[in-house]
Amino acid sequence: MIQIFNNIEDINTKAADIFVQSANKAIQENGKFTVVLTGGSSPAGIYKLLASSNYKTKIDWKNVYVFWGDERWVPLDDDRSNTKMSFDTILNHVPIPKNNIFPMYADSTSPEDFAITYEQTVKSILGEDGKFDLILLGMGDDGHTASLFPGEAVLKEQTKWVVSYRLESQNMHRITLTSPVINKAEKIVVVAFGEKKAHALKEVLHGDYNPNTYPMQLIKPISGELLFLVDKGAAGTEH
Ligand code: 6PG
Repeated sequence: MIQIFNNIEDINTKAADIFVQSANKAIQENGKFTVVLTGGSSPAGIYKLLASSNYKTKIDWKNVYVFWGDERWVPLDDDRSNTKMSFDTILNHVPIPKNNIFPMYADSTSPEDFAITYEQTVKSILGEDGKFDLILLGMGDDGHTASLFPGEAVLKEQTKWVVSYRLESQNMHRITLTSPVINKAEKIVVVAFGEKKAHALKEVLHGDYNPNTYPMQLIKPISGELLFLVDKGAAGTEH
């Protein structure tokens, strides 16, 4: 399902409202809320809104467990780090226990070994069914999501929940959740705005099924809900 908004602020408000609603439902039903944050630049406004006085008191943060959908394999103080961006915009500003936060990076190990560790961590919190309550995703201009990039072997992964690989086009290692575990989620919200994403979004939603070219097409929740929150630019209805 897709919802088109007039501006980014309205997208941020909708996404923050969904976050609060999902958190309160999960905490009421299961005693905890497991959420996957996305990186990139799109979610920063959502995270800042959630950290604002209007929102942060609406969530019982001690029962929130935070993971990431993907990470650039760079130190946590590197400006490219999705973890750093998340701490700067929300996690340093809400009363969430540090033990409830699971950065997708560690200094003392290889990305390949850490991918195995991270999968074990996910299973220790979610159990073997691996069903996250909410997964936030962005989408690149090329139709990638998380670190599921076009043409990469990770797109074909059907068993592992977490994979690391060298992304040659960006000369860096990436670590990412795979489509099998993403598709187990209760709710998946994709945030995309700007005209640069219009072509990929049109192909993802209306083009032939070609996930090797448009990896976002891999995202099809097994039983959960998939919602695209986009602006008119990304929807191609700007004019
Ligand atoms: C990353 C992100 C990535 C992001 C898209 C969109 O590590 O870059 O997780 O999947 O969501 O690239 O990025 P923007 O939000 O910056 O357009």
